[in-house]
Amino acid sequence: KPVALHTNLLKEFVTDSQINHYQDHVSKLHTAMHERMAEGSDFLGWLDNPLEDHSEMLKAIQNVTDEIKKNADVLIVIGVGGSYLGARAVQEALAPYFGPKSEGVEVIYAGQNMSGAYLKQLLSYIKGKEIYVNVISKSGTTTEPAIAFRLIRDYMEARYGDESSERIIVTTDLKKGALRELADEKGYRSFVIADDIGGRYSVLTPVGLLPLCAAGCNISELINGAKRAAFDLQSETISDNPAYEYAVIRNILYSKGYTMELLASFEPSLKNFHEWWKQLFGESEGKGKKGIFPAAVSYSTDLHSIGQYIQDGHRFLFETILHFDQVEDDIEIPFMEDDRDGLNYLVDKTVNEINCLSKEGTAIAHVDGGVPVVKLNVHVLDEYHIGYLIYFFMKSCAMSAYLLGVNPFDQPGVEAYKNNMFALLNKPGYENQHKTLKERMDE
Ligand code: PA5
Repeated sequence: KPVALHTNLLKEFVTDSQINHYQDHVSKLHTAMHERMAEGSDFLGWLDNPLEDHSEMLKAIQNVTDEIKKNADVLIVIGVGGSYLGARAVQEALAPYFGPKSEGVEVIYAGQNMSGAYLKQLLSYIKGKEIYVNVISKSGTTTEPAIAFRLIRDYMEARYGDESSERIIVTTDLKKGALRELADEKGYRSFVIADDIGGRYSVLTPVGLLPLCAAGCNISELINGAKRAAFDLQSETISDNPAYEYAVIRNILYSKGYTMELLASFEPSLKNFHEWWKQLFGESEGKGKKGIFPAAVSYSTDLHSIGQYIQDGHRFLFETILHFDQVEDDIEIPFMEDDRDGLNYLVDKTVNEINCLSKEGTAIAHVDGGVPVVKLNVHVLDEYHIGYLIYFFMKSCAMSAYLLGVNPFDQPGVEAYKNNMFALLNKPGYENQHKTLKERMDE
């Protein structure tokens, strides 16, 4: 299988009979999910989405990408949360460490923060470069991308005049939201985010696919990988469905007091994949005063910092080690006559082989230190396997949230900061809250 779950180091923390005990519960939730009877089932569109025919959409994305490549040096992707994390995760996982992928244009991101410095520097970075923009927001009303888009639209209109409407591509709801209205009014081309797919489950839709195609990724292979996963992970039986097994293990560990999960990788290009994974699990499970806190570490770098805590600090962590068996490049340790660094014992080994052994050593050390370790092995770091892995995590996350007793597809907690921010900014309609908050600030 393209992704395999290894639980050999877990025996002293989770037993087979504890896992099997969940089977009835998992079967019921599986049926409810697949028959669209589960909580939040209006947002289960991603479940069968990879199995559908996407040839028209892929063709449309390829056409726009060809045009972008012909006319632009840079594509600015504007979005926040699920509207950018997936694209950025896959793009960076597959890009070379230095310089852009030769098949693509440079893709940069905006609207994922409210840093004035970031936006000012972005506008000065794009001066003199040819630009296309893909603004992505399902609701079409999110403040961060709305601010970035206002600034960038202002720049595009000043720079390109009427031609700007050909260089701005919108990805949003079919009918609703300010962005849809603007797109219709200005004649921007648009891609649609299906009603039944929420932000953090949307990377395999035009939300992720257009930026990724422009960045030079093979999006058909990404979908093919997800399709294979949707096919492989259909069983309700835990022992036949590693996505469910992973969900069950997480829930057992949580019930035993392991309340934080560390996703650990040994390839630095996966840092933004970690961010996508953190959003997926954190926003899906962290509600009703429940949920595993998802965190991530990049090894071996972090073994020389937070690694001390993981090995030896307060015990409430478990670790999921994500490992890719084949990455494109590798290099051998050369022989040196003087051996002044004492590394000749490594001659003929590759750096990736050393990295891999450090992974095995780390896993055993962490188990010995009281950290349960699960391993997820992925065959190859490429589009197909990443597509598989994305679907694996989405299905696992939905089951895990259902096992926890929460709706995987809402995010009520996100509103609290927004309300306070709008009140402090004196947005019309927030006048009363403005006064109360000001008083609390000045206390
Ligand atoms: O997962 C989610 O639904 C959220 O993280 C959204 O993606 C995020 O808030 C951005 O929303 P929108 O696409 O409506 O701008």
